[in-house]
Amino acid sequence: MDEPIYLNHAGTSWPTPTCVSDAVVDAMRSHPAEWPSRFERAHAAVCRFFGVADSEQLLLTPGCTSSLVTAIASVDLPAGSRVLTSCWEHHAVYGPLQKLTEKGVAVDVVPASDESPMDLDALEQSLAAGEVGLVAVTAACNVTGDLLPIEAIIELAHRYDAMVLIDAAQIVGWVDLQLDELGADMVAFGGHKGLQAPWGIGGLYVAASARLKCATAQCSIIGRSIPDKNAGASGQQWGSRPGYCDVGSVDQFSLAGLAASLDRLGDTTRLHDLEVAREQARRLRETLSRNERVTLFGIEDGDRRLPTIAFAVADETSDQSAERLRQHGLIVGSGLQCSPVSHEALRTSETGLVRISAAVRQPESEIVIANERLAVFCSGSC
Ligand SMILES: Cc1ncc(COP(=O)(O)O)c(C=O)c1O
Repeated sequence: MDEPIYLNHAGTSWPTPTCVSDAVVDAMRSHPAEWPSRFERAHAAVCRFFGVADSEQLLLTPGCTSSLVTAIASVDLPAGSRVLTSCWEHHAVYGPLQKLTEKGVAVDVVPASDESPMDLDALEQSLAAGEVGLVAVTAACNVTGDLLPIEAIIELAHRYDAMVLIDAAQIVGWVDLQLDELGADMVAFGGHKGLQAPWGIGGLYVAASARLKCATAQCSIIGRSIPDKNAGASGQQWGSRPGYCDVGSVDQFSLAGLAASLDRLGDTTRLHDLEVAREQARRLRETLSRNERVTLFGIEDGDRRLPTIAFAVADETSDQSAERLRQHGLIVGSGLQCSPVSHEALRTSETGLVRISAAVRQPESEIVIANERLAVFCSGSC
């Protein structure tokens, strides 16, 4: 068979761009005496890309899951307080939130409406009911690619004095994220999806507005800017925000790869790449829609979705469809995509969904071939 085409970039990107793998090898071969300055330069590059003026506000982590776990553990949520979330969360958000319930924190899911993956009226009502310490939401559903209205969510949550944590795993690389301007209190992301960086590197942005207790800190070393009010009963001071004590050493070889991948994407807006990919996704979706055995999921309007396509084929599981697609030379995602709650909301828990997701700047020639293969798949027993 001809080369398979990889279309599971919402899971992880592949292949690694050459400039990225070259940067990793170069970092691995560099002398350890250079590592601190290399770290500073790469960290500064990540901050520049994400519009973060104070590099102390952007903690490098092993990935988005690690960032989310650290963020959620660091929020001061007493028993009786509430956390709001969406019905589209990856288990990297849902899991740590479930743990909070063991400490007497209520986790309430704000439903979707017919118009939006988060019903903003329901969100406001839930905020108005009081005691909400945190709103933790994904910026996009990783199954369907549907975008959540994060700006409106941030604005509403702040009106009711609740902090906001955004899981940006799916949108980085696709959407311009200027974190100082966004207004979220915390934003978590990873490098290995849209940014096409290696595994093992991600980030947690912590705005000055975030009120944290830094619950997971392993050491009591005082960083700069720790106010006296954080002095504990013993008189010992603890950090008011998570630091490298909490997430461990940074994988600086992956960091070198991340810096190279950001350099590759450049300073220009992400909008052009997103528009190209949306047009590519529109064609693939159209091919699928011609077959009556295929049911497409996600918001109809492609401008309100990432270029992700989620679908089911009648009378087979998503794993069976994905296997047949593999035989047609297409590598796609299937199953529950680590987001069982999304599948509950979509009523697809039994079969899962097939997910096709292109890369930022996937060559047009690959999309053309992928579409031909999809057409053959659809014209067969599909
Ligand atoms: C929405 C979402 N959140 C979190 C994660 C976890 O990311 P990481 O693999 O960087 O830990 C993923 C990865 O699938 C995701 O899609």
